[in-house]
Amino acid sequence: MTKELHPAGQVGGTLMVPGDKSIAHRIALSSILADNPITATNWPDTGDVARSIAVAEAFGVATTPDGDAMVFAPPASRASGTIECQCGNSGTTVRLAAGLAAGCNGLSARFFGDESLSRRPMKRIVTPLTEMGAEVTTVDDRLPMTVGGRSLLPFTYRLPVASAQVKSSILLAGLSAGCSVEIEEPRITRDHTERLLRELNVDLVVEDVKPILEADPDDPRRKRQVMPHDYRRRIILATNQRPTGGEIDIPGDISTAAFFFVLAAISGADITVQNVGLNPTRTAILDHLRQIGASVAIRDKHERSGEPRGTVTVSGGTLKPRKIEGDTTVGLIDEIPIVAVAAAYAKGTTVIRDAAELRVKETDRLQAIYDNLSRMGVKVGLMEDGLVIEGRGELQGADLAAYGDHRIAMAMAIAATGAVGPSLIDDPNIVGVSCPSFWKLLDGVTS
Ligand code: S3P
Repeated sequence: MTKELHPAGQVGGTLMVPGDKSIAHRIALSSILADNPITATNWPDTGDVARSIAVAEAFGVATTPDGDAMVFAPPASRASGTIECQCGNSGTTVRLAAGLAAGCNGLSARFFGDESLSRRPMKRIVTPLTEMGAEVTTVDDRLPMTVGGRSLLPFTYRLPVASAQVKSSILLAGLSAGCSVEIEEPRITRDHTERLLRELNVDLVVEDVKPILEADPDDPRRKRQVMPHDYRRRIILATNQRPTGGEIDIPGDISTAAFFFVLAAISGADITVQNVGLNPTRTAILDHLRQIGASVAIRDKHERSGEPRGTVTVSGGTLKPRKIEGDTTVGLIDEIPIVAVAAAYAKGTTVIRDAAELRVKETDRLQAIYDNLSRMGVKVGLMEDGLVIEGRGELQGADLAAYGDHRIAMAMAIAATGAVGPSLIDDPNIVGVSCPSFWKLLDGVTS
């Protein structure tokens, strides 16, 4: 199936996007260990999150939809024997649930995925979970994977890749085994697991490393700021913790809102997204839009269920390029496809580096962006870890491919709104992985 995409005449409006996928996965999976039911409001009815529900059910959780909420009743006893977990397209489901399984002594959990997930690397979790004492077998570090749960050992780990999935996998392993865990993060990644567990009364401490003053060796009369460690954040989970139940409200997913923010930025219009998550580990996109020339206004900012949220209006302007690398790339990890589209509409050359992780997402996103923007007449350079995009302000309509990746489909749909002439996108239903209402929402803010 393909979908025809027409350039938008008028752009603008107000919308709400489905609840944050990262937070929803964590709620579904944490409920396996909780001592009472968890009710999650503003629950996103999306493809990826449905996988975490199915996996929680495989571990014995009873789930009941209730209006816009989902209720998770934890199992009466720990899962044991052999269970099967079908994770579909969802990397977060498999990596987090594998950690949880690793700490369930006597359990053997088998994990499967679709074609895309079966190509994605699992070594990043196999290594730490095995060091903790679990028995993990894979085929060439890929799915299918079997995790044999054991009584795990207290564990200290420095994250070799900046990955919230790996961090969360280890934290959930410690939580399910009842052993302490200390994680050092050289680059700060999204912290939804930490926030949720604290909200569910788990003893978990997050320490940010602060710079200290020391004598400047070049001029002893002066002081200089140095970092006392070569990591930025330390997360410490205490022994024998159990999440309580409770009610958790999920804010809108800023990574989905990002498509509409960029639509505003490239069209010169105003778009407002209400009740969107504003966790500082996820808001790099707002900072990016300001830096390239859009204006961003935040209203009604408040915190609920441990997560900041508010109403965000982005107003477009004349966009300029920016070099994106290091911590900025980590902060924009899910937004790079739509950031690349904004770059194509900017005036000047955008360089994106340190983005090799994009090659192991739902598809090779660097290649997919390169292919699609090239088809639209943009001059793009492809590097092992990034892209060079010559912004030209005007794109040609083209035959576009989603490569089975929801974010590529949504990014290219936004690119097509500003193009000269119609475009076609294959596989429009893939947006259901994170935002089944995407086409309807897009219709609502374009005409
Ligand atoms: C996620 C972490 C990120 C992100 C993914 C969701 C999460 O992946 O790209 O979409 O919910 O923890 P990595 O941990 O691989 O960076």
